[in-house]
Amino acid sequence: MKEGERVRQEMAYSGMNFASKVKGAVRKNFNQSAEIYRSFEEKTRFFYLLTVQLARWMGIKNGDTVLDVGCGNGASCVALRECCEAIVYGVDLSEAMIADAHRRIHDTNVHLMVADGENLPLRGEGGCFDAVMYNTSLFVFPNPLKAFLQVKGLLKPGGVIGFSFYPRVYSKDLPDLISFAYERLGLPLPRFRTITSWEKACCALETVFGPIDITTYEMRGSILFLVDFFSIPAQSASLFPKHPYEERTRKVRELFKVLGEWEGRFTIGWDMARARSKRP
Ligand SMILES: C[S@@+](CC[C@H](N)C(=O)[O-])C[C@H]1O[C@@H](n2cnc3c(N)ncnc32)[C@H](O)[C@@H]1O
Repeated sequence: MKEGERVRQEMAYSGMNFASKVKGAVRKNFNQSAEIYRSFEEKTRFFYLLTVQLARWMGIKNGDTVLDVGCGNGASCVALRECCEAIVYGVDLSEAMIADAHRRIHDTNVHLMVADGENLPLRGEGGCFDAVMYNTSLFVFPNPLKAFLQVKGLLKPGGVIGFSFYPRVYSKDLPDLISFAYERLGLPLPRFRTITSWEKACCALETVFGPIDITTYEMRGSILFLVDFFSIPAQSASLFPKHPYEERTRKVRELFKVLGEWEGRFTIGWDMARARSKRP
């Protein structure tokens, strides 16, 4: 069966139950994460910088109107304002992340709303956005196909849609240092680290918008960065889903300590994909 067909069937058969369970957990995890998320961002400016990379690669232009889906506490919205002078509409599932964004951002060109990216309360026949972006949010969407079908009508003809994904950690010799660290510690690998796989997300994008481009933004690896990133409660849940938060943080530190000998010799890769909506 073709991947596109498989995605369509999965969408039809996947019970509402799975999607609502995932979204309940995601909302809870990010509601719990707002403060630590902000401290991480103040320390690293990581989400801001990744958004700038993604926006440039997508070709977002000065003054474009952009829908930022899964905008979190607004780091990506601010980046879009500052790098592209964009008019930004940010939506996020987590009330706490949006509340934090409201506290931090006082800009009449940033509009924020609590909403599910797979059930957007927005309509725009003929398209009202020049671009739609998902900066490190799509991998926790249960149904990317549904999300893309939602925004298809919102994108102007010729508009661009793009996402950045979940980190890959690799060295010259080892393609997946996180799995390697689990094995070294004798720990079982999590059943899945992302709700939606990279392949499924790309396939859904291609199904809705046609040919896609992909690239990887590579960062020099740092163990401190990995520990900080995966200590955000919502991120640690992807590595140790069954454990309470405090225990997850301890396990994250233990996991990445194993990679000590690779310090300075590994890469963190952020895969990105983009497509264009067709002109009539
Ligand atoms: C890692 S954060 C990224 C936030 C932001 N894009 C940034 O760059 O700082 C992922 C965000 O996606 C949001 N999210 C996850 N699933 C969502 C959904 N179905 N609809 C809307 N937002 C969602 C989460 O609540 C979280 O705030």
